Amino acid sequence: MKKAELINLVTEYKINPIGIDVLKPRLGWQLNSGERNLMQTAYEIRVANSKKDLESGKNLIWSSQKVESDQSVNVVYGGPALTSMQRVYWQVRIWDNKNRATSWSSPAFWEMGILDRSLWTASYIAMDDITTEKKSHPSQYFRTEFKTKKAIKSAKVQVTSLGVYELYLNGEKVGNDLFTPGYTTYNKRLQYQTYDVTEMLQGNNAIGAIVGDGWYRGNIGWKGDYAFYGKQLALLVQLNINYTDGTNETIVSNGDWKASYGPILESDMYNGEKYDARLEMDGWAQSGFDDNKWTKVQILDHSKEILVAPQGPPVKAIEEIKPKKLITTPKGEIVLDLGQNIVGWARMRVRGNKGDRVTLKFAEVLDKDGNFYTKNLRAAEATDIYTLKGDGEEIFEPHFTSHGFRYIQVIDYPGTLSLDDITGIVIHSDIAPTGSFTTSDPMINQLQSNIQWGQKDNFLDIPTDCPQRDERAGWTGDAQVFSMTAAYNFDVAAFYIKWLKDLALDQHENGSVTNVVPDILTGGEGVSAQGGATGWADAAVIIPWTVYQSYGDKRILEEQYESMKAWVNFMAVKSGEDYLWNDPKHWHWGDWLAYNADKPDYNGSVTEKDLIATAYAYYSTTLLAKIAAIIGKTEDVGKYKEQAVNIKKAFIQEYITPNGRLVSHTQTAYAMAISFDLIPEGLIEKSAAYFAADIEKFGHLTTGFLGTPLLCTTLSKIGRDDLAFMLLNRKEFPSWLYPITMGATTIWERWDTQKPDGTIIEGMNSFNHYSYGAIGEWLYTHVGGLRIDPKNPGYKHIIFDPHPGGGLTSADAEFLSLYGKIKSAWEIKDGKFHYEVVIPSNTTASVTLPKATPDSILINNSKLKSDLLKTLKQTDEGVQLELGSGTYQFSYPSGKLKL
Ligand code: BGC
Repeated sequence: MKKAELINLVTEYKINPIGIDVLKPRLGWQLNSGERNLMQTAYEIRVANSKKDLESGKNLIWSSQKVESDQSVNVVYGGPALTSMQRVYWQVRIWDNKNRATSWSSPAFWEMGILDRSLWTASYIAMDDITTEKKSHPSQYFRTEFKTKKAIKSAKVQVTSLGVYELYLNGEKVGNDLFTPGYTTYNKRLQYQTYDVTEMLQGNNAIGAIVGDGWYRGNIGWKGDYAFYGKQLALLVQLNINYTDGTNETIVSNGDWKASYGPILESDMYNGEKYDARLEMDGWAQSGFDDNKWTKVQILDHSKEILVAPQGPPVKAIEEIKPKKLITTPKGEIVLDLGQNIVGWARMRVRGNKGDRVTLKFAEVLDKDGNFYTKNLRAAEATDIYTLKGDGEEIFEPHFTSHGFRYIQVIDYPGTLSLDDITGIVIHSDIAPTGSFTTSDPMINQLQSNIQWGQKDNFLDIPTDCPQRDERAGWTGDAQVFSMTAAYNFDVAAFYIKWLKDLALDQHENGSVTNVVPDILTGGEGVSAQGGATGWADAAVIIPWTVYQSYGDKRILEEQYESMKAWVNFMAVKSGEDYLWNDPKHWHWGDWLAYNADKPDYNGSVTEKDLIATAYAYYSTTLLAKIAAIIGKTEDVGKYKEQAVNIKKAFIQEYITPNGRLVSHTQTAYAMAISFDLIPEGLIEKSAAYFAADIEKFGHLTTGFLGTPLLCTTLSKIGRDDLAFMLLNRKEFPSWLYPITMGATTIWERWDTQKPDGTIIEGMNSFNHYSYGAIGEWLYTHVGGLRIDPKNPGYKHIIFDPHPGGGLTSADAEFLSLYGKIKSAWEIKDGKFHYEVVIPSNTTASVTLPKATPDSILINNSKLKSDLLKTLKQTDEGVQLELGSGTYQFSYPSGKLKL
């Protein structure tokens, strides 16, 4: 057994972050050991200004002293206030339940960003280019030069822009983040990045930057808006150099900088990039470049009060995919197939003559005749055009655009195009993969793959509804329903922490939460501008709750508390004295895109919106009462509990007959009422029977965005796994697997986005919407049996409770928690149920062995010993054991399991 060690020291969910502005960062570590029953009993953290001081334990700026606690995640720094750009080193040691202490961990560090706003001496600089024209504009190039004469100890640059930027130092791109400064509600919050550029400086230096329209000034929303956040792009750069002699110098963006247009003629999120390589300006970001023809910049007066350090992960190019096939379509189009619907762009290698123009178009699918299909992109042009400079091999990648695509049409490629000439570049927020789920059924594995791709493709700095058409907005409802699945698949803590800040800032004064965040709709026309829609706006409460559940992070509850409360109070006001939210004038999306909901006469499934609104009001109010208790807002607990009780009473009276039937007799209504706990005790069986009968009657699901995520979990809750698995395994429309029979590699927006005959529904129709992928939660938790214990969240105590069924012979759910790897993997083989669980150190677990009897269980091939027998409970489900950390392999005869 290897010695226990402390690894993965994180600050604010990141390893060694720089440029942060969280004053009291959250720290965490993992106790790495395969040892059984290992718990931390105490910890000690120490922090110093240098590694040397830290390791000698001298001149510490903070020591937590020995704290008797098993907490190893989200431990809040408790030392003195830190100053701007202060770097501190920290390490931790722990004591365990076997009376041992570890040695001090390797040092980690974090570094503050600019905390004192008066230190922002740089100015926003801009070109004389002010426009609200409804079109894309050339990207802007900025530059300056400076000399350093002394030896450099360290250099950091802080940078942001109005628009999206790329920063260069001495000809090299600084960092590999994309679409910086990121997408926030720009008029209230603008992120700046900090990069360590110590190694990039030399004697004669040049800083260059390219700024493009981005979300700030580019095409945004489906109504053809441009310049939503501003008419003029700008750049803000501040480079701090510390010399070895103890002096320092700051180079800032100011009126001395020069600006010019260059080869990027247009670069727009939706529409693509037009790049003319003939206009390239060799060496523009290096010293000695002749910038005589460049113009002087203007100083733009823009707030620096809104500058914040990023909390979420940056967008990066994560993966490259080579095309699988080169197709000539029936129409004669030359098309490459990546075999996977991705988000990003195509890198092209090309040789040709000066002035040759290659056009790249992007599509998610081919139509039923096999031709390139872009109608579902609506107004998004998704077209990159590259004009060659004609000097040998040229490589093109666009700068400030991304496309959602599987197919690339290449037009006017000089010479013969081969598969090697194009590479698909996959970009997304740099969220670390945490979850995997595999089974014995390749189609279900493909479903899981589609869910994960749907997430990668739609986590582009904000959670978007879709990544391809003229929308790509942070729709709150989509984000809400998918958030728990998202938190299984990838580490999304910091991603949501960032986005929820914008949600709260965009929230209306009366508490209403906008439909999309950042809010680019309010003030516009139509229902989408209204906000406050049930199931959508509840993202304000549900997503912080999900983050708390998944990462045990109380601070997100504290930070979002006012926002949650405002939303719940808004619903209370809207519902009025009878506690029913049934104002017909208030717009809700309802169970959006439910099966045939647009054709109620043809068995379409319409769940009344007021029923949904009242159910969600109950659910969010209940969560808020729990949250108030968790973060010590004791004065609110009673109030919201009482409010919830009243809503429930009203709900029962208005929507449930004395016989347990819901007035909207739909799967969504039952799934919602049962899972939100709205059915009175004595009626649960009857309501459950109605629910099950409806599924049996149809033989398929009829739910939309709000009902679908609850469907299988609720069927399992009422003991109808058989129906849940039937829905999962169904391959005909409507179902989760139907799209897979049609070749889908991501989750579709509609159950029938593409009909069995290949016809594609016109209008709003995306092949890459993650909402229906919310079934992922049930796959991990129920089929795989890897669950959070809500009373002990963040996987501090894990519930293992697998449910074989649906003909599967194996399922393997794995999750990289903040404590380390968790595994729940079962297999039925040779008449035996084999079950392996991995429980990380410093956590405990309850394990259910389905349909087992105590004497039939073997653990690592031997009978249960007294220590485990002590914890054993025989339940209706099987045998339950309480376990500490370690890897355990169980096996017993599988005879009693229903498959
Ligand atoms: C989006 C959705 C969104 C919906 C509102 C659509 O345009 O794509 O996913 O939630 O509008 O119902």
